[in-house]
Amino acid sequence: MIKDFFLKYKTVKYSHNITPVKRVINMYLTKEEEKILNGENGEVIERLFRLLVRLGDIYGAEKMIPVGSVQVAGVSYKSIGDPGTEFLEDIASKGAKVKVLTYLNPAGMDLENWKKLGFPADFAKNQLRIMDAFRKMGIVVTSTCTPYLAGNLPRFREHIAWSESSAVSFSNSVIGARTNREGGPSALAAAICGITPNYGLHLWKNRQPTVKINVDTDLSFNSDFGALGWYVGKQVKNKIPYFTGIKDANTDQLKALGAAMAASGAVALYHVEGLTPEADLVENKGLEKISVGKKEIKETYNKLNTGKKPDIVIFGCPHASLREISTIADKLEGKHLKKPVWICTSRMIKEAAERMGYNEIIAKAGGSIVADTCMVVSPIEQMGYKTTGVNSGKAANYLPGFCKQEVCFANLDDLVEGQL
Ligand code: F3S
Repeated sequence: MIKDFFLKYKTVKYSHNITPVKRVINMYLTKEEEKILNGENGEVIERLFRLLVRLGDIYGAEKMIPVGSVQVAGVSYKSIGDPGTEFLEDIASKGAKVKVLTYLNPAGMDLENWKKLGFPADFAKNQLRIMDAFRKMGIVVTSTCTPYLAGNLPRFREHIAWSESSAVSFSNSVIGARTNREGGPSALAAAICGITPNYGLHLWKNRQPTVKINVDTDLSFNSDFGALGWYVGKQVKNKIPYFTGIKDANTDQLKALGAAMAASGAVALYHVEGLTPEADLVENKGLEKISVGKKEIKETYNKLNTGKKPDIVIFGCPHASLREISTIADKLEGKHLKKPVWICTSRMIKEAAERMGYNEIIAKAGGSIVADTCMVVSPIEQMGYKTTGVNSGKAANYLPGFCKQEVCFANLDDLVEGQL
């Protein structure tokens, strides 16, 4: 889909005379926005702004609103290919610059260690072209799906335009910021224009729960939250769940829950009684009810397990926090891995882990901290891996289709044990 947009952008010939968009615009535009639309700020910003106007009109937005930050998906060469790379180089060469703090989703490889980790050289060459184009536009080339752990932290009720589904879920639900699930092109357009159409989850009335989920079992491992999320996402599709019965959950567990719901369904916002900031503010009476117990969680583990023994275990979907890396370092201290273990994270968290000595412990055991990328957007199938072990419901959902992998879905302890 992202590739389609880039191809279309390239083939549609731009002309001021044949684009009477003004006639069909229903939303209110400020004087400054009118100028952008008339091409007074240049061709690139006009075309990207038109994309936002079209989206706003389709979804019934009354106006544009400023965004505090952006996170752009469609970064890996594996996802955007040559059309996307050429599009980004084209707009960067025409002087496109972002107006607000903008981060990137994971790239297709570790941008510093790709050679050592065995990423193909021709893939790396194209990935580096993409990163260069983003850098020229003023985008922070921190490639991560957990920007909120790496210096891009929105505040409660702040309007933002983020694209990666787990980051969207976390920012909406756990932080209480407001974003729709943007596509790569619409997020880039929001970054360059500094605004987004005011519709969907930007409006309080659309943030009310539409289904109640009662959790009637204890959840211990992060993978339990991933399994719960995967099961609920399948049931509720794009509804807004209101969870009861979750006694406690740290932010790593909530990110695992949200990521899996966004992957198996299209949940962009959820509330957890007593834990998330809007849960006390929304109306939760008279909703459809779904119960999830031990049986459903067990069935989900079974369903997500398509493989027998992993060739490689990869943690960090969504990108690992310092706490998760510290837990893995504890498990690996003084051990020797027989098969590879990767932990995917952002460059910033990797540096913090380095300072804590975790990276050295993990490297001594034979594992690797892999920054800037993840198991789904990197070409692991081209690197000889056929079965991947994960503790993430989201990764388990995507690895078979995106990377032709069999999956072993289990908790962290069992996965580490199996590689020793
Ligand atoms: Fe992040 Fe990749 Fe998972 S982008 S959420 S680690 S699939």
